[in-house]
Amino acid sequence: MIASYQALCQARVDQALGTLFTPPLADLGRLYEAMRYSVMNGGKRVRPLLVYAACEALGAVSEKANGAACAVELIHAYSLVHDDLPAMDDDDLRRGQPTTHKAFDEACAILAGDGLQSLAFSALSDARLSELSDATRLQMVRTLAQAAGPAGMVGGQAIDLGSVGKQLDQHALERMHRHKTGALIEASVRLGALASERAERDELAALQSYARAIGLAFQVQDDILDVESDTATLGKRQGADIARDKPTYPALLGLAAAKAYAAELRDQALHALRPFDAAAEPLRELARYIVERRN
Ligand code: IPE
Ligand code: IPE
Ligand code: MG
Ligand code: MG
Ligand code: MG
Repeated sequence: MIASYQALCQARVDQALGTLFTPPLADLGRLYEAMRYSVMNGGKRVRPLLVYAACEALGAVSEKANGAACAVELIHAYSLVHDDLPAMDDDDLRRGQPTTHKAFDEACAILAGDGLQSLAFSALSDARLSELSDATRLQMVRTLAQAAGPAGMVGGQAIDLGSVGKQLDQHALERMHRHKTGALIEASVRLGALASERAERDELAALQSYARAIGLAFQVQDDILDVESDTATLGKRQGADIARDKPTYPALLGLAAAKAYAAELRDQALHALRPFDAAAEPLRELARYIVERRN
């Protein structure tokens, strides 16, 4: 199920994303090319999938979530472009291609990231991408701004950079992961639920528990793959965390315990979805996929 669902959602979000990179002026061609290069390059699109799946779990048509699906992927792509910069993780491979600062240059990569972040909010508030009330749209803008910003992803990246070479205990490591990766994943689920315009308070709370568990599981699995996958499968350099002495779950707990923890988080996520019927099956599949994925 996940493969066909993934293909369908990827095609839908890629179609919408592909319309966003037309330069308004000829001399901005390189900037727009760098933004397109950073987005239209075969990412797994897990966050857009979560947006669509959460919207569908509440019985709404997922087209309502197109703007949000684009927005979370644009924020994610910007975070990767900046994460790979020499001042941060200094990586040269991403999604099987040279990182944006390698394919273009550093200044261009910084600006492309900045541009993608603004485009995200433009897509989220664009009435042509999804028909929603202004009140819903405003709630969505606030949700994404909080998750992407210093109280969310950006804060997590700051904690990450401040933790290189340090021994974090499990509480501190979890806090870092929940911010740098969990926040945007939680926002993806919430945005999908908001886009349905029919989420009850208890449903939002259950989806929040689900998202909190998979958000952490996603980064635990990312850490595990850095240890046991290979560069060709990952499309990014295997062993980069070890080389840079990053605090990770396998480094803290050992590989077997890190895997057990990811599975426990998956089970917590599935448990949180118990009140939902078959419409939540894509969300359940995504929880399994997040800890079973090989890239
Ligand atoms: C990688 O994210 C960075 C993290 C937040 C762990 P993904 O594994 O979703 O990367 P893509 O989008 O598929 O390239
Ligand atoms: C990335 O974490 C988190 C964000 C980009 C916000 P990582 O640094 O572990 O991601 P990868 O492994 O480079 O994809
Ligand atoms: Mg990083
Ligand atoms: Mg990195
Ligand atoms: Mg990583």
